[in-house]
Amino acid sequence: MTHRSPFSAQIVGTGTYLPEKILTNKDLEKTLETSDEWIRARTGIEERRIAAKDESSSTMAVKASLQAMKEADVAAGQLDMIIVCTSTPDILYPSTGCFVQKGLGAVNAAAYDISAVCSGFIYGLSIAEQYLKSGRLETILVVGSEVNSRIMDWEDRSTCILFGDGAGAAILKRTETQSPKGILSTHIHSDGSKAEMLCVPGGIGRERISSLAAEQKQYTLKMAGGATFKSAVKRMTEAAIEALEFNGLVKEDVSLMVPHQANKRIIDAVAKHLDLPLEKTFVNINRYGNTAGAAIPIALHESREEGRVKDGDLVLITGLGAGLTWGSALIRW
Ligand code: UT7
Repeated sequence: MTHRSPFSAQIVGTGTYLPEKILTNKDLEKTLETSDEWIRARTGIEERRIAAKDESSSTMAVKASLQAMKEADVAAGQLDMIIVCTSTPDILYPSTGCFVQKGLGAVNAAAYDISAVCSGFIYGLSIAEQYLKSGRLETILVVGSEVNSRIMDWEDRSTCILFGDGAGAAILKRTETQSPKGILSTHIHSDGSKAEMLCVPGGIGRERISSLAAEQKQYTLKMAGGATFKSAVKRMTEAAIEALEFNGLVKEDVSLMVPHQANKRIIDAVAKHLDLPLEKTFVNINRYGNTAGAAIPIALHESREEGRVKDGDLVLITGLGAGLTWGSALIRW
C-alpha cells in the first residue's frame, strides 16, 4: 500500500569528483594479457580514473559534495545527515562519513557510512527518503565515493580492468507540501547467500590482518564474473519493474534510465528486458569503468549536465552490487 506523506524528498543539487589520472585500456595492455579491443567489446570501458596517493574516499567525497551543495545553495551547517556510500572506507573506523563531516565543517550533521557496495547510493537515497518524508529531517547529503584501485588485484585481468575511482553526491531536501516532484519511491533488496560471488574475502573482523593473507591476495576483490553478470541483469530488471508497478507507471512514462555502470552489456540487456529504447539509458562507463557506490550519482550528475534530465522528467535508477544487494528508485524531476 502506498503511504502518502505530507512531505516530498527532492534532489536539489548534484556533484562529482573524478581524479585527474586516467588509466586507459592501452595502458593496461602493457602489464596484462589483455587488449583494448577485448575490454571495449566485453565491457564498454575505454578508460578509468585512478586516485592520487593523497586522495581517499573522504577527500573525493568532500569535493563532490561541495559541488552539490553549491547548486543546492546549502551551507555545511544546514546538513542534518551525511550518508557516505562506500566499500573503500578511509580506515576501519571511524566512518568515512565522520571524515567527510570534518572536511565540510558540517557540525550539525549525523554522519555515517553504509556498506551496500554498488547499490550503496540507492540504499542511501532510500534512507534519506524516509527521514525527509517522515518530516524528521530537512537536509541530507548522500555521497558515493570509492578508491577501487586500492582493492584491485592488478594481476587479475578479469577484475582489475573493470573498476575505477571517483565520487558523486546529491543533496536532498524536504519540501513542506506534497509535490509531484521528488523521489516517488525506493526499493532495496539483499541476498546474503550470494555473499561470496563478489567480495574482498580478508578482513580484520574475521581474521587478524597478516602478511600471509596479503600474499594470498585476501585483501583484493574477487568476483565470479559470469554469475554476477546474470544476477545483475535479472535483479536490475526486476527492481525497475517493481518501482514502475509500485507507482502505477509504465515503461513509456520513463524519460531516462540511469543504471549502475558495471558493464555496458548489462545495461543493454536490462533495457532490452524492460523494452526501453537505448536512447533512454544513460551510459558513461566508457570513461570511468565501474566506480561502485559512486557510479549512479556520477551518472545522475552527468545526465543532468548533458541536459538529458528536464523538469517533469521521470528518472529510473536501478543497480546491483556485492552482497548481493540491489534496488531501484523512481524520481520525478
Ligand atoms: O558492480 C557489480 C556488478 N559487477 C558486474 O556486474 C560485473 C559482471 N561481470 C562482467 O562484467 C563480465 O562477466 C566480465 C567482464 C567480468 C567477463 O566477461 P565475460 O564475457 O563474461 O568473459 P568470461 O569471464 O566468460 O571470459 C571469457 C574469456 C576467458 O577466456 P577463456 O577461458 O574463454 O579462454 C577469460 O579468461 O575471456 C578471458 N578474459 C579476458 N581476455 C582478455 C577475461 N578477462 C579478460 C581480459 N582480457 N581482461
